[in-house]
Amino acid sequence: MKQFTTITAWSEARSALEAMSIGFVPTMGALHAGHRSLIKRCVAENDYSVVSIFINPTQFDRANDLEDYPVTLAADLLMLQANGVDAVLLLEPDELYADGYSYSVSENELSRQLCGAHREGHFDGVLTVVMKLLNLVRPGSAYFGEKDYQQLQLVRGMVAAFFMDTQIVACPVIRDSDGLAMSSRNSRLDTSQRRIAPSLYQEIRRPQTTYAARQRLEKQGFDVDYVEDYKGRRLAAATLGKTRLIDNVPIP
Ligand code: PAJ
Repeated sequence: MKQFTTITAWSEARSALEAMSIGFVPTMGALHAGHRSLIKRCVAENDYSVVSIFINPTQFDRANDLEDYPVTLAADLLMLQANGVDAVLLLEPDELYADGYSYSVSENELSRQLCGAHREGHFDGVLTVVMKLLNLVRPGSAYFGEKDYQQLQLVRGMVAAFFMDTQIVACPVIRDSDGLAMSSRNSRLDTSQRRIAPSLYQEIRRPQTTYAARQRLEKQGFDVDYVEDYKGRRLAAATLGKTRLIDNVPIP
C-alpha cells in the first residue's frame, strides 16, 4: 500500500493508472466495520483502490466537534493494508484548501433540510471536499454509506448536476449487534449513553408516527434534532451528551 501526502506525488502516480478501473472510498478516519464494508467492496470491484483519510474542517459547524474528532491513524493504516487497498491519500488542509475555501459547492434544497437545518454550512463543506477529492482521484466508482443517507443523496445529485464521470455506489448501514449504527463518534459515548444509544434505531423502526418516535426518544434522554420521513426513508438525528448520532431506515 502506498501513502501519498502531497497532491503532486499522487497526481504523478495517478497518471500511470489510466488503463485501470479505479475505486475510491473517501473517509475521515477512525475506521470501523462500516468503513470496512465500503473498502472491501471497492477492493473487490476495481483494479486499483484508493482510500482518503481527511478530517475535513469545512464540514464541522462546531469547533469543539472538530477538535474532539477521533484519530486512530496507525490502526486505520493496518486495516487498509490488511484489506488490500492500493493507495491511501493523507493530504493536508492547506493543500486541499489552497484557495482558503473561497470556492465552494453549494446546494440549495435538500442540503438546507434535515441535518442541514441543524448544521449550518455542513453540506457545502462535504460537497466541496468530495468534489475536490473526486477531481484528484478520478475514480470510475466511489463508495458511500447509506448511514449518511442525506450525504449520499447530495453527492449523487452533485455528480449528476456537474456531469462528473464517477458512478456513486451506495452501501448498506453496518450496525453493532444491538442495532446501533457504527460511527467513529460512538467511541465518544460513555457507558450509560452507549446503553441508550440503540434506541435511536429501535424507535425509528417502530411503526409509529415521527412525532411519537421523537417523544419516546426525548423521554429516554435524547436531545432530538429531527425525526422526519423523506422519500421513503425515516431519518433521525439526536444528541446524547455531546455526541450527535444519526440513523435512517425504510419508513416502517
Ligand atoms: P466518514 O464519517 O468517515 O464516513 C466515510 C464513509 O463511510 C461515508 O460514506 C459513510 O456513509 C460511510 N459509513 C460510516 N459509517 C457507516 C456504517 N455504519 N455503515 C455503512 N457506511 C458507513 O462521511 C464522511 O466521512 C465525510 O463526510 C466524507 C464523505 C469523507 C467527506 O469528508
